[in-house]
Amino acid sequence: LASVEVDVSSLEPGMSMTVKWRGKPVFIRNRTPEEIEASRNVPVSELKDPLARNANIDASAEATDVARSAGEGKENWLVMVGVCTHLGCIPLGQSGEYNGWFCPCHGSAYDTSGRIRQGPAPENMLIPVFEFTSDTVIKVG
Ligand code: FES
Repeated sequence: LASVEVDVSSLEPGMSMTVKWRGKPVFIRNRTPEEIEASRNVPVSELKDPLARNANIDASAEATDVARSAGEGKENWLVMVGVCTHLGCIPLGQSGEYNGWFCPCHGSAYDTSGRIRQGPAPENMLIPVFEFTSDTVIKVG
């Protein structure tokens, strides 16, 4: 399937789901205010990968929290391809030093917006093309 539609109405803040898109897991998370705050408090200059890696915006955009999220007014939503940018393992959610995702294969730690913070992975996890087709439905791809 080129795209997949996902009903996210059951996801309260702090809840995630994983859907399959083009054979890959896509993590959809309704982030808590604390998670958003933690991500916002990190200057882009401290990031290993300063690029947003968000297929919905300009390729040169910086990896600010809002640029990684679903955008203004929907900053709580994080949609990303759940594949470690090191060698492709699937990271575990809400774990690791930065309380985001942790890849058990070689110890890469991602933060609450999926940005690489520690370990061998070179890039932030990819944000795929997606859009909200209603308040509660996300179309990935
Ligand atoms: Fe994730 Fe190596 S594949 S750290």
